[in-house]
Amino acid sequence: MKLLITGGAGYIGSHTCVELLEAGYELVVIDNLSNSKRASLDRVMEITGQRLTFVEGDIRDTSSMTSLLKAHSFEAVIHFAGLKAVGESSRLPVNYYDHNVGGTISLLKAMQAAEVYTLIFSSSATVYGDPETVPITESAPLSATNPYGWSKLMVEQVLSDLQASDDRWSVTLLRYFNPVGAHQSGLIGEDPNGIPNNLLPYISQVAIGKLSHLRVFGDDYPTLDGTGVRDYIHVVDLALGHLAALKRNVHRPGRHVYNLGTGKGYSVLEMRAAFEQAAERPIPYEVVARRPGDIAACWADPSLAMQELSWSAVRGLEDMTIDGWRWQSRSPNGYED
Ligand code: NAD
Ligand code: UFG
Repeated sequence: MKLLITGGAGYIGSHTCVELLEAGYELVVIDNLSNSKRASLDRVMEITGQRLTFVEGDIRDTSSMTSLLKAHSFEAVIHFAGLKAVGESSRLPVNYYDHNVGGTISLLKAMQAAEVYTLIFSSSATVYGDPETVPITESAPLSATNPYGWSKLMVEQVLSDLQASDDRWSVTLLRYFNPVGAHQSGLIGEDPNGIPNNLLPYISQVAIGKLSHLRVFGDDYPTLDGTGVRDYIHVVDLALGHLAALKRNVHRPGRHVYNLGTGKGYSVLEMRAAFEQAAERPIPYEVVARRPGDIAACWADPSLAMQELSWSAVRGLEDMTIDGWRWQSRSPNGYED
């Protein structure tokens, strides 16, 4: 079965490509390399011993996307391509709507032209806004507090309207919680540009000595130790969630929505302590003011994915931190090494 993977050179895309190749799928990846390196896909092929086809291109180019989709017989598209930095989205909202919403619409036009009707979309727990209760189920109220979050909600709406208008479509919305860690080989992992925004990449760069200390954004939240709590999920478990969704929903018309999380939350200080153990070195920190827009606690109720997809996250905190550290310590400068 042949698949088109948009944004497949990125962090989650590259890990998903490994699992898909190992499961026997044939892959074409399209990526504009705006936030990734070609080397990640070379590593994917090294890990699996399998080949994939790479096309450097932009999903917003509808005519090239249409030619690409028509040139192959794809059974489905897994759509990772997009911009993801929450802070940057408030500074550059037009860019975010252009890549995330405009890019998806361009992809959908090309899919319609090529008569490919199965799509799996990378959504986010950010669509739950500041949740009223945890754990969060798929039927919780939706909201957004920044342009990135709005762009995900808008795409969910576009895809839901499309599916409601045409029953040939199978649309799967995967709401990821907080992906962390790296492939066990240490050959692929997260390679952020500049100073990381997210907790785990930041902690790993403190551990490797590139950054002096962690800044903990607030210790006065109503949580166990006062720091923010999130549902961290090993990126390989997340990748396997895509396989499960694909197997179940390919050519199965409907709108399917799943939380991909572990169902367990850890605080910032718990994550720091776990990483200290994995890296066997101290991670100094100071507590600073809350980061604007942050919420206190967010974790998933992942039971629907278990019921419908027979999928659940099996890798624990130790796997996340040990695998993340293996990648960071082998490649202090990411794919440049
Ligand atoms: P990433 O930046 O590593 O991967 C995204 C890829 O898309 C990159 O390789 C980038 O070069 C490519 N891209 C961006 N715009 C493009 C365009 N217009 N045309 C072609 N390629 C383009 O990010 P990631 O962490 O792998 O995230 C993948 C998806 O999952 C994104 O849609 C993101 O919003 C979503 N998501 C990520 C997280 C997270 O914490 N990492 C959480 C929830 C949802
Ligand atoms: N944090 C710090 N210091 C840092 C970075 C983060 O204390 O240097 C804290 C945050 O305040 C928060 C926790 O660590 O309590 C996690 O923060 P991240 O930035 O790693 O993750 P977020 O939960 O804020 O957001 C991430 C992605 C979003 C996605 C969301 C889904 O960045 O794109 O997960 O749950 F939508």
